[in-house]
Amino acid sequence: MCIDLRFFGRRRGRPLHIKNKILIDTLLPKLSIKEPKLNQYLDPWALFASNTRELWLEIGFGSGEHLAWQAGANPDIGFIGCEIFLNGIASLLSYIDRQNLKNIRIFANDVRHLFLIMPPTSLYRVFLLFPDPWPKRRHIKRRFICHDNLDQLSLLMVDGAELRIATDDNIAKAWITNQMKNYKNFQNITENPLVKSEDWPITRYEIKAQEQCRQSIFLRYQHYIEN
Ligand SMILES: C[S@@+](CC[C@H](N)C(=O)[O-])C[C@H]1O[C@@H](n2cnc3c(N)ncnc32)[C@H](O)[C@@H]1O
Repeated sequence: MCIDLRFFGRRRGRPLHIKNKILIDTLLPKLSIKEPKLNQYLDPWALFASNTRELWLEIGFGSGEHLAWQAGANPDIGFIGCEIFLNGIASLLSYIDRQNLKNIRIFANDVRHLFLIMPPTSLYRVFLLFPDPWPKRRHIKRRFICHDNLDQLSLLMVDGAELRIATDDNIAKAWITNQMKNYKNFQNITENPLVKSEDWPITRYEIKAQEQCRQSIFLRYQHYIEN
């Protein structure tokens, strides 16, 4: 069980370059998702253009390279990117600025707070790429894939929605595949965990894993709602 909403990762790294600081001060307020009043749901569709077809979420987008690629390749999708690390948020903002991306909104906080304000059955695709593995046994409660977070995701995802997960850590590989196997509302649709589809661009953590000779796996699950 992981009902504790404390966050254990880093919120800030090195001081931001002046360009990134300006983006945080000027662009982030325009793209940032504000929490609605108490006991009200967010209207996520209202954040995007009226012809938006689906809403996709990336949890812990890191430096934002995957999210920016997806947003560029899918202009009719509304993307919600969630990240708590300020330097990563600044990096995503610089992609958005340079590529003039119009279909990304940012929740600059722990995604578990977003879970509480998103309306049910609103997400069509969710990405969780290289989540912090927390390999030590005493940190099991910090691992993102756990029954409580899967309950929340299941509530928010539409029938047929896809959840994509990548990891390079051996303990995380076993943990994640086991948790997913034991959770009833996701069907494993991965054909080959060592091979990514063309619409799955590389991230900084995948590059790091390659450089350190760690094999990454790329998992795909389809969400289904039982009648
Ligand atoms: C290991 S990094 C991977 C970054 C990126 N996905 C990649 O593949 O390069 C994990 C990221 O998830 C973020 N993160 C961890 N827990 C989070 C949470 N509960 N809500 C939002 N972001 C989170 C961290 O701040 C960190 O940037």
